[in-house]
Formats: sequence, C-alpha cells, structure tokens
Amino acid sequence: MISVEGSPFKNDLLKDKTIWVTGGGTGLGKSMATLFSGLGAKVAISSRKEDVLKKAADEISVQTGNAVFIAPMDVREPKLVEDAYEKIKSDFGQPNSLLNNAAGNFISPTERLSSRAFKVIIDIVLYGSVNTTLVCGKDWLKQGIKGNLLNIVTTYAWTGSGYVVPSATAKAGVLAMTRSLAVEWGKKGIRSNAIAPGPFPTKGAWSRLMPGEMAENFDFGKRVPLNRVGEHQELANLATFLMSDHSAYINGEVVTIDGGEWLKGAGQFNMLEAIPESMWDMIESQVRKTKGS
Ligand code: HXC
Ligand code: NAP
Repeated sequence: MISVEGSPFKNDLLKDKTIWVTGGGTGLGKSMATLFSGLGAKVAISSRKEDVLKKAADEISVQTGNAVFIAPMDVREPKLVEDAYEKIKSDFGQPNSLLNNAAGNFISPTERLSSRAFKVIIDIVLYGSVNTTLVCGKDWLKQGIKGNLLNIVTTYAWTGSGYVVPSATAKAGVLAMTRSLAVEWGKKGIRSNAIAPGPFPTKGAWSRLMPGEMAENFDFGKRVPLNRVGEHQELANLATFLMSDHSAYINGEVVTIDGGEWLKGAGQFNMLEAIPESMWDMIESQVRKTKGS
C-alpha cells in the first residue's frame, strides 16, 4: 500500500504541481500517481482503458482526498494525445509535469517477431513518449512554464537485453531523448530526467515477461545483490523527489533503482559469489603460492 507515511516527504510537497501520468491506472504508474496525489499534486492519468482509469482515479481520490482526472487516450496517436492534454488543461488544470510511464512489452526470441510486433512496442514506448513530450514541451515553451519531464526507462536501456529487443531499442531511444532535451530545453527552464527501475512486481510486467511457471524458475529477486525485488513505495519515493523542486538542479540524469541488479550482471568476477566461504582459505593459499613465479 502506497502512503505518504511511507515516504520521507511532507504533506504539501507537490501542491503546486499538476502531473500528467501516462499508464497511471495500473502498476507502477498508479503507485506513483497515488503518492503524488497524497502529497497535494493535481494528478491526471491516461491510458487506453477508461474503466481501469476510472476505478484507479476513484481509489486514489478516496485515499488521498484529492481529485484525480482521467484522460483516456492511446499514446501512439498524436491527435488523441493532444486532445487529452487540452482536456486536462481546460477541465482540470494546466499540467506542468509529465511522467512518461506507459509501456508495452513481451518476451520473444527476436527472429520470431514480425515487423508489426516490433513496431507495436516502439510505437507505445518511444513514439508514445515523443507524442506526450512534444505536446507538453511546445505548450510549456510557449507559455514560459518551468516544466518537468520524467521518463520511466529500464536498466537495459543502456546494456541492451536479448528477448526484449523492441523494448530495449525503444527505451534506449527514450533515454537519448531524456538527455538531449535536458540540454536543449533545460536552458528554457524545462528539466528532463529518467528513472531506470529494476524488477518491481506488477501484473502487467509479470504476465508478459514471466508468464506461467517462469516466475518460479526465474526468480528476479535472486538476480539482485540486495536479494529482493523492489517495493512500489521505494520507486514512488524516488519519482516524487524528482518531481519536486528539491531536485531542481538534477537535469539529464537517469537514476537507477534496482538493488544493484545490472551491475551484478556487468562485473566480470561477480560470478565468484557462487564460491562458498569455506573455500576461500584454500583459494587464497593457491594464489599466494604464485608469488615470485
Ligand atoms: C510474438 C507477438 C506477441 C508475442 C503480440 N505479438 N504478442 N509476437 N510474441 N508474445 C505481435 C502480434 O502477433 C502482432 O503482430 C503485433 O505483436 C501486435 O499485436 P496486438 O495484439 O495487435 O497489439 P496490441 O493489442 O496493441 O498489444 C500490445 C502489446 C500488449 C504490447 C502486445 O501486450 C499490451 O497492450 N501491453 C501493454 C502493457 C504492458 O505490456 N506492460 C508491461 C510493461 S513492463 P502481427 O504481425 O501478428 O500482426 C516493462 C518492464 C521492463 O516494460 C523491465 C522488467 C524488469
Ligand atoms: P503495466 O501496469 O502494464 O503498465 C503499463 C501501462 O501502460 C498500463 O497502464 C497501460 O494501460 C499503459 N499503456 C500501454 N499501452 C498504451 C497505449 N498505447 N496508450 C496509453 N497507455 C498505454 O506495467 P508496469 O510494470 O507498471 O510498467 C510501468 C512502467 O515501468 C513501464 O514504462 C515499464 O517499462 C517500466 N518498468 C517496469 C519494471 C517492472 O519491473 N515492473 C521494470 C522496469 C521498467 P492500458 O492497457 O489501459 O492502455
């Protein structure tokens, strides 16, 4: 359960923010939207499924006491994105913050993918983030609004990853956009940052990435040095800090929140953790014997 009490923040931290959260009706988007709302932000959530958005908005509002606006749309359609933004603006309030969180993903060997299967992921993740960012950025620049762009990527945005190649390709693009706009729009007062989460259990991600018995055979928690998956509150706390003015000098950064997972895969000798403690005396003496040889 996401709560203000589970965060280090004060109740009114985000009172001047109107935050547009894509994919805000489920999973991590809903969790982040809940904490934003609990901290006084006006939150508007978008995704394709109106019924899901409505239920989430009601739940968040009941918990936080603040209104949550719904603006159903498909991020792949520039016109629908523009209409959603204008509706939020006219019926709810001027957005000054954007959380690009909507995504699509599924595991597959790349050679099994059709061009359309690849495209559907690129369209949601990369083109979708482009569409929302363009709409917000153009309006903010025109009005001189000091806006805040926050993009949810993944750690494989820079390492790449087999079996999720469309997603990795798209997230890498979002990361490049994050850093590019930090410079281009930073000088006009718009910040641009990203968060790279490691494994945080959600229905959407797990059903597509770890279907059926795979979840038992590939325990994500075991890949993480901290030996566990992430908690939604932990991600929401980080997103809140990056949305707040307390992070005003952070621009063009990608903050990893993965318990050390990707570094564990990257460090050449990290596999030595498989060696039992009891063997290290013997190994040390073998290594010491090489002295002078
Ligand atoms: C191969 C597949 C496929 C699969 C779909 N396709 N699933 N190909 N293996 N498992 C192909 C279809 O055959 C079709 O190509 C094309 O993809 C489009 O499929 P549609 O069903 O028409 O697309 P659509 O209804 O728009 O669905 C999009 C979707 C879906 C991405 C496929 O899963 C979705 O809506 N997802 C949204 C939520 C989500 O994915 N959440 C997870 C985010 S998690 P053809 O050529 O046959 O027409 C995340 C975590 C990262 O990103 C890191 C975790 C640690
Ligand atoms: P999720 O619940 O499936 O969230 C994805 C959201 O995107 C859904 O609310 C979905 O709503 C929305 N969406 C999908 N296609 C859309 C479209 N065309 N237009 C508008 N909205 C669309 O999964 P999640 O795990 O919370 O993922 C949230 C974010 O975290 C994603 O960016 C994901 O890549 C990232 N992430 C997750 C993990 C993890 O371990 N969970 C790790 C790294 C990164 P509709 O179906 O209603 O459209």
